[in-house]
Parts: sequence; C-alpha cells; structure tokens
Amino acid sequence: MACDALANEFGTPLYVYSATEMRARLALFQKAFSFCPSTVCYAVKANSSLAVLRLLGKAGAGFDIVSGGELERVRRAHLPALRRIVFSGVGKQVWEIDAALDANILLFNVESEAEIDLLASRAKHLAVQARFALRVNPDVFAETHPYISTGLRQHKFGVEIGRARELYRRAARHTHLRAAGVSVHIGSQIQSVAPFAAALERVVDLARDLRADGHDIRYLDAGGGLGINYTATLEIGKASNAQQPSPAQQVTEYAAALAPALEQIDIHLLLEPGRFLVAQAGALLTRILNVKQNGGKTFVVTDAGMNDLIRPALYKAHHEVVPVQRSRKSQALVADVVGPVCESGDFFAQDRMLPELSSGDLIAVLDAGAYGMSQASNYNSRPRPAEVLVEAAESHLIRRRETMRDLLATERLP
Ligand code: LLP
Repeated sequence: MACDALANEFGTPLYVYSATEMRARLALFQKAFSFCPSTVCYAVKANSSLAVLRLLGKAGAGFDIVSGGELERVRRAHLPALRRIVFSGVGKQVWEIDAALDANILLFNVESEAEIDLLASRAKHLAVQARFALRVNPDVFAETHPYISTGLRQHKFGVEIGRARELYRRAARHTHLRAAGVSVHIGSQIQSVAPFAAALERVVDLARDLRADGHDIRYLDAGGGLGINYTATLEIGKASNAQQPSPAQQVTEYAAALAPALEQIDIHLLLEPGRFLVAQAGALLTRILNVKQNGGKTFVVTDAGMNDLIRPALYKAHHEVVPVQRSRKSQALVADVVGPVCESGDFFAQDRMLPELSSGDLIAVLDAGAYGMSQASNYNSRPRPAEVLVEAAESHLIRRRETMRDLLATERLP
C-alpha cells in the first residue's frame, strides 16, 4: 500500500516499516559471517516493537537486551529466542538478573567487578549457573557523536582491558559463574570499519590469554555499531552516488575487516547490530499543519514532534525529509521542518532545500526505523504514534496510536 493510503487509513504521525528490508538486512549479516560460527543478536533498543522482534527472531536472530523490559519483549515475541539472548548494560538490577537467569539466556555481558559478585550471588540463590562475558573497554577511538561513543577508557562502559585477566581469575572462584566469553562494543553509527578491526584484534588476544589461563572461552561478542548513510537519498541521480557503498558492500567490508582477527581463533562470534538492520527499513510519516514565515525564515510545522523522533534534537542527527505525493525534483524553498513541541530544539531539518509545500501535505522523515519509536516519549502530553509493518502487498497495524486514556492510565489524584 502506498504511504499516502497508509497515512489516510491509520492517521499521522505514523511509523512505517518494511518487513522485507529488515529480513534482507539480517540475511546480509548472517551470510557475510557464515565463514565462522556466528549468531546475530539484534540490539532490541533500536526498535523494540514486538512484531519487529518476532520477524527477526523467526529469521534466526538472537537478541542483545539491556533491561528486564526488553527481556519480556523477546519472551512475548519469540520464545525460542530466549536461548539466544545476551544481556548488556552497566546497571543491571536484581530483578532483571533473576528474570534473565530464570530464562536461561545465553550470556550476561558483565561490566564491572561489582556486577560479577552480584551475578554470582543471584545465580547461587537460584541454584543455577550463569554464563558470562566481561565487556572490556579496548580504548579504541571511533569517530561518531560523543553521546554514542563508548570504547574509550574514560567512558562508563566495560572494564579496562588490562584488568580483564585478573577479573576472570577472581570470577573463577565463584562456583555459580561460568566464564563463557569476552565482549566489546565501541559505539554506534560508526562508518569506518578500522576501529572495529582494531578492537576485535585486542579482544581476540585477550580470549587466547584467557584460554591459556584455563577459562573455557567459547563466545566472542563483537558488539554493534555499524553505521548507515543518513544522507544517501541526497545523492540520488548524482554521479557521486556510485561512491556510496550499498548495504551489502558495507556488511561485506565489515566482515572482511573482522575476519583476520577471527581467523586466529576457533570461536563462536556474536554480533549486536541494531541500527543497521532497521533504520533504513522505516520512515516517519507526518502531515504538514502549516507553513509560516518568521524573521525571514520559513518554518514547515508538522504534526510529528521531537517526542516522536528525538534524534535531530538530541544529536543534531540528519534525516532526509521528502514529500510523499510530489516530485522531489522541484527544490523551491529553504525551510526548517519543525514539530509542535514547545522547544526550539524541536526540529527535523534546518535550512533544508525542499519543494514547494503547503498545509495538509504528507512528508516522510526517512531512515527512522532505528531509535525512532523506541526513543519516543509523551512529552507535551502527546500520544505516541502508531506503527505499521508492510509485508509485500499487506500492511499490518503493529501498534495502535495511543489514546487519551493510555496517556492518563497510570496516574492517580491524591
Ligand atoms: N550493543 C550495545 C552494547 C549497545 O550499547 C548498542 C547501542 C548496540 C549494541 C547497538 O548499536 P547499533 O548497531 O544500533 O549502533 N540513540 C542513539 C544510538 C544509541 C546506541 C546505544 N547503544 C541514536 O539514535 O543514534
């Protein structure tokens, strides 16, 4: 179904996803890493809608979770995938650890000495064995937005790689812990593969040392973070487009960069891509409420706001904005595309060249399938959008729009 028909049927703002594209992206990863035993554990935080998790789970994905809530989502979406879960995060709570132990997940990515002790005591309490990997910090610099870079010593994530052997030695004293892997994640939206290769090399060296120390290291978790090209559509029709690698080329290049390190060790690789699998499979459809001039500038005001898609406001992230009905060719105005939220940071595009637009027109904010709906909020008491999953000629409403009742459901007047 065409986007305008979807917007008419389900209203706006509306997230629309392509099931085919998500499956194809997962398949690219699975195929590129078929040279070694591997499992793609999709990072649930990128888009945690149940229907998305089910489609990826059924296509063989495992999951990288960071909370008890994400664990529950995987349980409801695709039960068999519980055994393919890795649990990351710097601050796991007792109830979350207990729920994950009870679900018998594949691996806990432990991020501190204190968490080793906590995991050991909960595993003992529940009389089970906990498989863990220490998330090490390889001290590798990766060019990305500072809010989503994680692999340097000064970041809160992981433990310094130099301390890892000592921590595994300490952990070995706990009879309810099994050292099963080593993990790393250096950040998100990283577009060069070199830092991934550098990080993995260090981690492979560590895994070999750990094996020499007597630990049964079976898994190597290389994390997520492979970036996408958010400006791809800008290049359509231009000669330079040929220089933009396709998604397939990107994954091939990524796999080729990791391969030399992986060839030195016989191990099961885990990967945690989030954005790469879902971002470009989704768009946010929004209708123009009005077009206004202020101080010599043109503002296109949409019915979607920063509460629906916060990436531009939070990271100054670039998203292409295109009209749904009209030709993209006639570039007629330079405008800011803004939402109705009471903040000047509430924008989707600034000083952007756009075709002639007027109130009632439908526009699409592209590449919004990752960290869009999953970061949406009710700020300004705005109900969150609906979501539609398109599969060939069929479209399924996978989340209805929130109602006033939903908005107020948890509140009580004293
Ligand atoms: N694994 C771990 C441990 C992570 O912390 C993350 C992302 C991923 C995997 C997945 O990374 P990806 O493949 O999606 O880059 N809200 C930001 C992104 C935050 C990423 C946080 N961690 C954004 O909208 O750009």
